[in-house]
Amino acid sequence: MPNKETFYITTPIYYPSDNLHIGHAYTTVAADTMARFKKQEGYDTFFLTGTDEHGQKIERKAQAKGVTPQAYVDEIVRGIKELWKLMDVEYDDFIRTSDERHVKAVQKIFRKLYEQGDIYKGSYEGWYCTPCESFFTEMQLKDGCCPDCGRPVEKTNEEAYFFKLGKYQQWMIDYIEEHPDFIQPVSRKNEMVNNFLKPGLQDLCVSRTSIKWGVPVDFDEKHTVYVWLDALTNYITALGYASADDSLYQKYWPADIHLIGKEIIRFHTIIWPIILHALNLPLPKQVFGHGWLVLDGMKMSKSLGNVVDPVVLCGRYGSDAIRYFLMREMPFGSDGQFSYEALLTRINADLANDLGNLVSRTVAMVEKYFDGVVPAHGEWNDTDRLLIALAEGTPSRVQKHMDELQFSVALQDIWQLIGECNRYIDQNMPWVLAKTEEGKERLKTVMYVLCECIRIVAILISPTMPRTPARIFEQLGVSDPALCGFETASRFGMLPAGGRVQKGEALFPRIDIKKELADIVPTPAAQPAPKADKAPDDGLISIDDFARVRLRAARVTAAEKVEGADKLLKLTLSLGPGEPERTVVSGIAKFYSPEEMVGKQVVVVANLRPAKLRGIRSEGMILCASDAHDKTLKLVTVEPGVEDGAEIR
Ligand code: MSP
Repeated sequence: MPNKETFYITTPIYYPSDNLHIGHAYTTVAADTMARFKKQEGYDTFFLTGTDEHGQKIERKAQAKGVTPQAYVDEIVRGIKELWKLMDVEYDDFIRTSDERHVKAVQKIFRKLYEQGDIYKGSYEGWYCTPCESFFTEMQLKDGCCPDCGRPVEKTNEEAYFFKLGKYQQWMIDYIEEHPDFIQPVSRKNEMVNNFLKPGLQDLCVSRTSIKWGVPVDFDEKHTVYVWLDALTNYITALGYASADDSLYQKYWPADIHLIGKEIIRFHTIIWPIILHALNLPLPKQVFGHGWLVLDGMKMSKSLGNVVDPVVLCGRYGSDAIRYFLMREMPFGSDGQFSYEALLTRINADLANDLGNLVSRTVAMVEKYFDGVVPAHGEWNDTDRLLIALAEGTPSRVQKHMDELQFSVALQDIWQLIGECNRYIDQNMPWVLAKTEEGKERLKTVMYVLCECIRIVAILISPTMPRTPARIFEQLGVSDPALCGFETASRFGMLPAGGRVQKGEALFPRIDIKKELADIVPTPAAQPAPKADKAPDDGLISIDDFARVRLRAARVTAAEKVEGADKLLKLTLSLGPGEPERTVVSGIAKFYSPEEMVGKQVVVVANLRPAKLRGIRSEGMILCASDAHDKTLKLVTVEPGVEDGAEIR
């Protein structure tokens, strides 16, 4: 065991307002994978998740259903816990903000901040976004709507308590600058400092009188504590902070990682650290804001009606396959496209072909050539040494990438080893070796090397895919726990000869993708019947035709050449903080270099049906003026001061 250091990781606590979708599962599976990995490394790990149950949104949903808010959330929380069980999410504690232990601690925290003068009473006049549970000034609204989610806001005018956020503005800027690892990825740090901290922090309204479903301020009961203040403190109340027994708090705080989605990074890297600082408590070591799972270019969300149900996916393909897909498909930190096609392709290519075939071929060959008994190896030759060196080096590469939260890269490391094992089989051609006595001697070494590599692979995939390793070990005939620990993964040769393999069912049966897609992908709603009195096609369009084209201002945040295509650039576009970034492939490489493009504001056709160009999904088109005379292209842009994402009409 490397050590007994502690490791504390959290997910955000979920709103129990609807069934959770696969986007929600993304954060939790990532945190669970990380927690399992750290446990495997020997850390004393604590993994916290839970539910964020108070506030106007829940109060209204319960009202609409005619039940109490508590009854409403109890039912949904049951479903959330079942989902985590289904997905093998093994948390150490599940905190609910309606738990008595949490409520009491929040009251103490609020009182302390009030008594020390960081919270004061005033009155609030402004706007409130219920879905985001956020306050905004008139100036902050975007077209009169919530600047974060774009939905309508409500006018609010009531007596309220305020937290002196502004007082800590400079301290917060300095802290972030002095702790470059605090906000990850780095791009999110710049966004926080430049867009929120430097323009100035206003004091935060931290109580409501018009909402009853919340933690009452114990010295002024007509007020309930603002939901975000209530929710953020879960990370310490779950550990017993401000309670009679705070031993877990003493042991695990500060958290090593708060894992969150990028839309709530502002709350976690400005408001939360300032609250902690005001309480004289240490700050979490890192806040990592991951990207979104998007469907058809939009963040998956119930209100947009584009959600994918994780229960259905796990039922059809098994939770290990879904966990693998979530962690492998997109670089952690960036947005990633969910598609059934991508999911099924990964299952077939990576799991059924690469991993599944490696295991079944190897076991079948040990059965066929050595009566099912793992043979003792002979001298290594150069081919063996290369593969062994790769196998021995893989755990430390995985470790490095896991520590950087690069889950997809860590999985690529493991799949590189799997790929090399498959190549090793093809190079050594066991079926040829088996034909001669001399060949059979050599075959013993080949089969041993393969079995040992598979043992190592099984150990390394277990944080992401907790169920599959046991099935692999069973087929390999490995039952000794001493051969299954992480510390043995870099020690090639621990597998004893003489064990008995046992052929089992295919780990991941191949899927007929065409048939499966026809079965599972929702069919688009019926198209409206074409109008009988069609206008003559005179080349003119109506204002309605034009209005269907959504032109928007967008900022190029990254650009690179498309390999093998000298006309194409791959651009990453930002359409403002509330939206996922999108990729557009554009034929401007002859006129603009990638470096010139970064930072430029362009005009994008935002509702163009996505298309694949050179294997890259392009989600829109940027506008250029073409000069017929010198045959060049020049970007169409907008006047300075236009916000990213602005509609162009
Ligand atoms: N209740 C707040 C968090 C309070 S933490 C003190 C909240 N809850 S949530 O249920 O809306 O979101 C929980 C997590 O799910 C967030 O990290 C969010 O980013 C994540 N996701 C929700 N939809 C998502 C995608 N489509 N893709 C990836 N993650 C997404 O916010």
